[in-house]
Parts: sequence; structure tokens; C-alpha cells
Amino acid sequence: MKLARLMKVFVTRRIPPEGWAALARAADCEVEQWDSDEPIPSKELERRVAGAHGLLCLLSDRVDKKVLDAAGADLKVISTLSVGVDHLALDEIKKRGIRVGYTPDVLTDATAELAVSLLLTTCRRLPEAIEEVKNGGWTTWKPMWMCGYGLTQSTVGILGLGRIGQAVARRLKPFGVQRFLYTGRHPRTQEAAEFQAEFVSAPELAAESDFIVVACSLTPDTKGLCNKDFFQKMKKTAVFVNISRGDVVNQDDLYEALASGQIAAAGLDVTTPEPLPTNHPLLTLKNCVILPHIGSATNQTRNTMSLLAANNLLAGLRGEPMPSEFKL
Ligand code: NDP
Ligand code: DGY
Repeated sequence: MKLARLMKVFVTRRIPPEGWAALARAADCEVEQWDSDEPIPSKELERRVAGAHGLLCLLSDRVDKKVLDAAGADLKVISTLSVGVDHLALDEIKKRGIRVGYTPDVLTDATAELAVSLLLTTCRRLPEAIEEVKNGGWTTWKPMWMCGYGLTQSTVGILGLGRIGQAVARRLKPFGVQRFLYTGRHPRTQEAAEFQAEFVSAPELAAESDFIVVACSLTPDTKGLCNKDFFQKMKKTAVFVNISRGDVVNQDDLYEALASGQIAAAGLDVTTPEPLPTNHPLLTLKNCVILPHIGSATNQTRNTMSLLAANNLLAGLRGEPMPSEFKL
């Protein structure tokens, strides 16, 4: 009798319980984990991934040629606990015939909810207002004090009307938004119809929007898309929100735009690098609200993401269709 060889799986971090339980139940896999809530050092990842058939990784793990070489020819599946795949060297992965799993859809609602929270927090200046209550700056009710910008009758521009971009528009519509604009590689006529959203170029979106929400994926084309030129086209009263990836924004240009009053305010859930150093100039600005990449951070969402990531990995290893495969 011939015994089937166990497939070796490496998991780069502790993951939420549902995903971990699914992996632990898999009788055909031998699962090893970096048993920490902190990132695995790259050298350690290269050492531990050697000989793995499957890799379950996070958006903070850079899976580059070095890691793939270290893993060796047995690596068949990479499953990331994220919808974003910009941390994966996709060309190299494709060359090697490795399949990729990711976690779309299950995090769309949580991320859109956070995007709307961040937009309202930023445009109504909530962190500043809360601080004034604590530091005695609240002396009386003053007509001109702590005024921000409201959504009623506004124009909202969505950079990337994908799953999350649409979910953001859906949530913002009842606030009385008058007009939705969007940009991307091509018009998405069917999806845009729900919001009567108009397809425009990125410069037009910058110039005409009162609120801009960046919800695109990070690719070579979107890297640095929101730069000096983009901010210079924006209205002085406009509010900029980014929940996509930090690298879509040129942060030096954003700092200049905020500090000089070129734009009114910015809310960022994502930055470069992450974490943002605590002495970063953006953190000195009252009109910049920064969150620590918590778009999908609800208990239920993260658990569902971990189960999906585990199921993607197991299906890929077994040569079955993955619940969510990123097609290369
Ligand atoms: P989708 O693939 O559904 O949407 C991606 C969008 O990016 C599409 O609308 C696409 O538009 C747009 N896009 C791609 N290339 C360009 C381009 N050159 N110019 C303008 N737009 C472009 O992905 P999701 O909505 O599910 O997720 C989007 C991103 O959000 C993820 O890739 C991830 O980086 C980020 N994210 C962040 C989270 C957080 O915690 N802050 C949580 C979840 C996701 P088109 O196809 O029309 O060109
Ligand atoms: C993603 O999934 O890409 C987010 O950034 C985290 O959920």
C-alpha cells in the first residue's frame, strides 16, 4: 500500500479562529504557522516556506521572487487574507504556474462602512471637535466655529467603481448626494446606472468633486495617481478619502495640498509605510485624519476572510475550484 504524502502548508501569522480550524481539520495537510501577531521577518519567511505546497499570507507579507525561489518547485498555491494582491509578485507567480486565492466580497460591506465613517469624521472635523471638548477650546456655541462640509447637494467622485466603490456610493446616496462621478480604466455602465454615476477622466473627477473616495486597486497604473497635479485640480473646499492603498497617493504632495489649503481635508485608512511613523508630517495636520488600515476590521468579517482564505488554499492544493481564485 502506498501512503499519500501530506501537503505542507505555511501560514505567516496567527489568523482568526474559523480559518485556523479549517486548516487544522485538513487531514491531508501538515500545517505550520508563524505563531505571532507580529509580521514574520523576511529571512525567516524564506527559511520557513522552503518545501511548502501552500502558503497562506497577509497583505503585509511581500511575496517576491526571493520568497518564491526559497519556497521551491513544490509551491502550488498562495492564498492571501486580503482582496488586495499588490503585495504578490504576480508575474513571477504566473510564470511558476502557482494559483492565487484572495478574499473579495466578504469584506466589501465592512470596508464601505469604514469609508463612509472616515468621510463623515473628516468632513465634519470630529477628531478636532472631540479634542476641543477635552482641552477647554469649547467656550460657547459660536456660529462660525468647527464648521465643516456636508454631503447634501454635493458631488461625490469615486476613483474605482469596483465592489467597494459601488458599496460606498450605495451608502452615500441617502445622504442627499446630487451627483456621482467615477473614473477607472473603462466605463462600467451597468454598475454606474444604480447611482446615475457619470464616467469621467481622473482630472475631471478631481476638478468637479466635493468629496473624492479612492477605492481602486494598487497597480503600476494607479501608483502615485493622486499627486500634485491631481490635488491642484481639486476644489479648495474638497475632501479627499483613501481606503485603497497608500501608494496610490503621493504623500508629500498630499501634505503640501493640505498644509497650503489647496484642499480642505483628507481621511486616510491606508498609508505608506504602514505603520506610519509617529513623527510623520501628515500627523501634525489638523485637517488630516489617519486610521491604521482598519477597513475590514470587524470580528465577523475577519473571521469570514480567514475561513475563505483557508478554503481557497485547501481547494487549490486539492486541485479543486477555489471559492475565490484571483485569475492570473
Ligand atoms: P475591485 O477589483 O472590485 O475594484 C478595483 C477598482 O480599481 C475597479 O473599479 C477598477 O476600475 C479600479 N482600477 C483599476 N485600475 C485602475 C486605474 N488604472 N485607474 C482607475 N481605477 C482603476 O476591488 P475591491 O473594490 O474589492 O477592492 C479595491 C481595493 O480596495 C483593493 O484592491 C484593496 O487595495 C483595497 N481595500 C482596502 C481595504 C482597507 O482595509 N482599507 C479593505 C479592502 C480592500 P476599472 O476596472 O473600471 O478600471
Ligand atoms: C484587503 O483585503 O486588501 C484590505 O486591505 C484588508 O482587508
